[in-house]
Amino acid sequence: MDAVDDANQLQETPKNEVMSFFEPAPLLEDAAEIEKSLKEFVDRNTSSSGNLNGKTNRVVCITSGGTTVPLEKQCVRYIDNFSSGHRGAASTEYFLKAGYSVVFLYRRGSCQPFCSTLPDDPLLECFSVADDSSIEVDALHAEIVKRAITENRAAVAEGILLKLSFTTIFEYLQILQLISVSLRDFGPSAIFFLAAAVSDFYVPWESMALHKIQSASGPLDIRLAQVPKMLSVLRNEWAPMAFHISSKLETDTDILLAKANMALKKYKMHMVIANELSTRKEEVIVVTDQEKVTVRRDSTRAGAEVESPLVELVVDRHSTYIKKFDA
Ligand code: PMT
Repeated sequence: MDAVDDANQLQETPKNEVMSFFEPAPLLEDAAEIEKSLKEFVDRNTSSSGNLNGKTNRVVCITSGGTTVPLEKQCVRYIDNFSSGHRGAASTEYFLKAGYSVVFLYRRGSCQPFCSTLPDDPLLECFSVADDSSIEVDALHAEIVKRAITENRAAVAEGILLKLSFTTIFEYLQILQLISVSLRDFGPSAIFFLAAAVSDFYVPWESMALHKIQSASGPLDIRLAQVPKMLSVLRNEWAPMAFHISSKLETDTDILLAKANMALKKYKMHMVIANELSTRKEEVIVVTDQEKVTVRRDSTRAGAEVESPLVELVVDRHSTYIKKFDA
């Protein structure tokens, strides 16, 4: 879709489109469990003892990883969206450091906070079985393993990090709705930092094959329906007071800024993080209606991540946003 097509869609997402996505969708099996953990998280972070680092009750929902689109109800095949989950996981660490509490909505199996420096297969690469059959961590990886376990568990135990997982587009959007409604009481102190790569097209549940599609029937023709643009629903209905940040990924730099600007206007985002696939770990361009800021990783520091200055900038602009409500 090009910028002209996008411009033609400057209206809100029609209610019937939203209903026709949600109504036939398979219900979340663990909805009650998710609601319970969200309630505990909100209670913990709205109580006075939940205020950390002098930054009162700031909270961020970070989405991370790609959603899948199942092709069969008893799913064997699916369409996936690219995202390793690194942006979301790393940003979670920096937001926690900045005193925010975090709801981390992530794709099962994608990158986790405090784990980005672990090798690809931590269990096999970091541990050995000693002579007495006890399990030991190898000296080379001891520090990073210790950090991953202690910091992750401490944040969860303190109630400042709530991790919720999804796989399909159906799960993602239903959980996002539950989170946004639960965080309403935070008003402008809540941020939605949307780094997930969300499917644009899907097979509606009611027209999906029940069993594995058979290859003997020859080439497969599938008609995919468009996933309603939920950003405008989130922005206008689910969490109208929050500070909203979406991401725009392109592989063609020439259209990246135009698309980011379009998203800013179309969905009334407060910020759009524009990134190009091959350079996304080096730099991003933060687009607001007042500025375009290029944020770069500090390449002089080993292990420095672009998410560090990025979250710093977000926290600064969020503080300005909150002040408007204090006035
Ligand atoms: O995970 P990493 O490997 O670190 O990579 C991070 C990233 C490149 C995936 C991330 O920074 C990023 O850019 N994510 C967004 C990818 C993208 O451009 O998605 P999109 O154009 O499909 O969606 C744009 C925005 O609309 C997103 O915030 C998405 O959450 C939202 N959306 C999309 C479809 C839809 N039906 N409703 C939506 O709300």
